[in-house]
Amino acid sequence: MKYPKGFKFGVATCAAQVEGCGLDGGRGESIWDVFARRPGAIADGTNPSTGACDSYRLFDVDLWNMMDLGVNAYRMSIAWGRVMPEGIGRINQQGVDYYKRCFEKLLKAGIEPNVTLYHWDLPWALENRGGWMNRDSKYWFQEYAANMFRLFGDIVPTWVTVNEPIATYVGYGQGFFAPGYTNKRWGNQARHNIMTAHGAGVEAFRASGAKGEIGVVIDIWKRIPISDDPEDVERAHDEDEENWKFYTDRLLGSGYSQYILDKFSREGTLMDMEDEDFRLSNLPIDFYGMNYYNTVPVGKSKVKRVAGENGGNFAEDRDTTNPEGMAPVLKMIMDMYSLKLPVYITENGFGHAGAETPDPKDGMIHDDKRINYLSRALRTVEGMLAEGMDIRGYYLWSLMDNFEWSAGNSYRYGIIHTDFATYRRTWKKSAYWYRDYIRQSLSHL
Ligand code: BGC
Repeated sequence: MKYPKGFKFGVATCAAQVEGCGLDGGRGESIWDVFARRPGAIADGTNPSTGACDSYRLFDVDLWNMMDLGVNAYRMSIAWGRVMPEGIGRINQQGVDYYKRCFEKLLKAGIEPNVTLYHWDLPWALENRGGWMNRDSKYWFQEYAANMFRLFGDIVPTWVTVNEPIATYVGYGQGFFAPGYTNKRWGNQARHNIMTAHGAGVEAFRASGAKGEIGVVIDIWKRIPISDDPEDVERAHDEDEENWKFYTDRLLGSGYSQYILDKFSREGTLMDMEDEDFRLSNLPIDFYGMNYYNTVPVGKSKVKRVAGENGGNFAEDRDTTNPEGMAPVLKMIMDMYSLKLPVYITENGFGHAGAETPDPKDGMIHDDKRINYLSRALRTVEGMLAEGMDIRGYYLWSLMDNFEWSAGNSYRYGIIHTDFATYRRTWKKSAYWYRDYIRQSLSHL
């Protein structure tokens, strides 16, 4: 038996990437709506209104596709601005009704919702108060989280506070993501604050008495030096510290590393911090969600990216495929923090740059490279389970092609093809493959 009883085979999406439909239903603007209007910010000039999948209107179609795939879990996110258009204060009942319908329909279909509160779409009204750079952001997030637990705590079994906190750094420190600032000090403050906010969310969850489980999602893009030249080794170490250890040390460990504190002090980019921030982010969680895509070769002979042209979704790490790396990377994290928590692989998938077109002979999109990647990734999960690792679920990114942030629609991660002119969904070969894989795996249980 490869998979334990109750294992979750899921697909994942996120509100800002799939809902579309502009501000219909009273949604307040997010930082991504505004950022997308900046010339050049999104590679192909698309935006989260028209460049997503119109799932706000077409949720039932997505549900039918999930039922046909045979998944038993769906990882989705709530658009903060749909339920609280100004970020704090007023609740938008239409938005609440929308998510309630989604959750109820999923549950009725035997598909467990795994709901992320924050997947990068900060309400614009809060950005106008300083966004994630403002230390009050923990109160804003706590208010929003408490509302969601009160409204949905009895029907949503699994919650994620924050997806990939690094996105705030890319947004405030590097400028590739919304809101598009390029100030490292700001980036550091924003990423520090969002992790405090995560803790404030956990605190609200415990106070609400909701019976489900709550965790956080951190993506690990482990750097591998391309040689044992000390310069390459040091560069990989520095990038590990900046790109994922910053978050895991704080959330799974006990605080920032001395390396980070020294480096930021030297640079003059150290953030304002208080003890209370660390009390919050150290509150116990119920699981760790790992997003894993690939490992990243690093060394001085590799030109990383062309400043100003690349970054975010265009980082050269996208070209490497190492699904097998998921096992040593997760093992490294577990060892590093003596982690006893259950783990979900909250995202894993394969991106294709550019259009994927159907074969004129049979009308099928033969995304064999994606199937190759996914089958190797799932074999790796099987191996980890066989070794006794406590992995409770696997969520494939993504159910369908969607708004791939600064890459717009120019990168496709879906196992279902989205036509962004009509929003018609069409299964790719990988969707059939995943359906068969799930069927076979569940039949062993
Ligand atoms: C994010 C997703 C994104 C995916 C592929 C993850 O970093 O959580 O929103 O679409 O990677 O780039």
